[in-house]
Amino acid sequence: MSKLISTEPATGAVLWEGQESDVDAAVANARNAWPAWAAMALTSRIELVRRYSNRVRSHSDQLAELIARETGKPIWEARTEAESVVKKVDISVTAYAERTSQRQLPSQPNMRAALRHKPHGVLAVLGPYNFPAHLPNGHIVPALIAGNTIVFKPSEKTPAVGEFLIDCFAKAGLPAGVVNIVQGGVKTGKLLTQNEDIDGVLFTGSAQTGIALNRQFADRPDKILALEMGGNNPIIAWDTDDIYSAAVLIVQSAFLTAGQRCSAASRLIVRDGIYDQVVREVKKIADRLIIGEPFSKPAPFMGPVIDNDTADGLTESFLALMSAGGKPIKHMARPIDERPFLTPGIIDVTDMTERPDIELFGPILQVIQVQDFDEAIAEANNTRYGLSAALIGGSAGEYNQFWSNSRAGIVNWNKMTVGASSEAPFGGIGLSGNHRPSALYAADYCAYPVVSMEAEQTRASIGVGLKDEEKTEA
Ligand code: NAD
Ligand code: SIN
Repeated sequence: MSKLISTEPATGAVLWEGQESDVDAAVANARNAWPAWAAMALTSRIELVRRYSNRVRSHSDQLAELIARETGKPIWEARTEAESVVKKVDISVTAYAERTSQRQLPSQPNMRAALRHKPHGVLAVLGPYNFPAHLPNGHIVPALIAGNTIVFKPSEKTPAVGEFLIDCFAKAGLPAGVVNIVQGGVKTGKLLTQNEDIDGVLFTGSAQTGIALNRQFADRPDKILALEMGGNNPIIAWDTDDIYSAAVLIVQSAFLTAGQRCSAASRLIVRDGIYDQVVREVKKIADRLIIGEPFSKPAPFMGPVIDNDTADGLTESFLALMSAGGKPIKHMARPIDERPFLTPGIIDVTDMTERPDIELFGPILQVIQVQDFDEAIAEANNTRYGLSAALIGGSAGEYNQFWSNSRAGIVNWNKMTVGASSEAPFGGIGLSGNHRPSALYAADYCAYPVVSMEAEQTRASIGVGLKDEEKTEA
């Protein structure tokens, strides 16, 4: 078993050390625990999951600090993530009742027809590093309420946060084997998803991995596969009397969490008539952003990206856009050698003939100038992804047109592309997901419907197509 190490992106300090886990043992534990967990009364499962959220609430400062250290995001932002973890239980209980509870269906006299839902069994949960607590938690909590048991593999870049969550489940008194953790990288993820004894995979991560999983499960329609993937999200800037606010929304959409949000705006599409004003204001605000360590004062707007390899890749991507004809508006810089802090990069790619349709998961904003609204919408849809999209400015009629014609799971007006509510469905189309949205609708993929026709008495008759009894030959 190889050794695993997690270091703090902001300082390089070692935060966590551990070993790759035994995947088969974890799956076997989950399988053994499943019958009793699935048979437990829903109210008892909910009570245990509530105890978990109480445990997280009473340790939320520790969780926030750990998230900040392990991801590099500012502590103020890490606190909001810890809060989302706590809130998830109430949201999931409501969602379970709304989406997957039991109810009577219309039926004939002397019988009843019922719709109920059953859990799948043992579910593997694969988590990403950008929201290492909130996003896996968004699969795990609804899956547990529905009666599934879990084997969770956190990102290899955030194992400590993963371990913290699982420890909270254990301390909350969930029966042994109901929630299990396996630590490791891609190899461990493959061993887990290839294990015959899992009933499905709930995944949040890149489109590349999601596509690999989709391929892997192509001949396994018997397993549930929920894929929450990345984006190459557009934000359109149109006529507005408040250029400053427009620029704030654009900067927040593009650079919060150092651009490491699946819903981050990567492409600013702007009307030619307001291009100079918008771009000048966006650059001015981006120049003022404080980029620093999670606990530094004054509080930073954003921290580093997750690691040096990622920072190298993003710097190279920025240079590649320049070599392909992009005109830099604000160069992406690496202020501290050997640490993955990046300043926001802004580049005009209007004249590039072939723009790469890939997710650049970091603080890079590509700007495209257009002349009319149809062109703006066509440009917004010029991607294989489809997670979030926003229109800043414009009239109600233009927003209507944008809402109707834009291809994305989140379509906003005068609001950021990021900051989705946990109380709404969250998911995209195209390469952003496989039509199994998470958040409020996670309940849907955590259970399957079972319809039953039920009568207390055994009574039946055949009305047509029978010979009279006396005419029946012996
Ligand atoms: P990733 O795809 O590299 O990894 C995600 C998880 O899958 C990790 O635990 C990883 O170890 C595991 N994994 C990787 N390859 C695997 C394989 N072949 N088989 C099994 N497991 C495998 O993603 P990441 O870099 O950790 O996270 C960032 C990505 O996540 C971005 O693309 C971002 O847009 C996306 N994301 C999506 C959402 C959403 O809800 N749609 C939310 C947050 C992040
Ligand atoms: C994410 O999950 O990466 C982003 C969530 C959001 O801010 O909308």
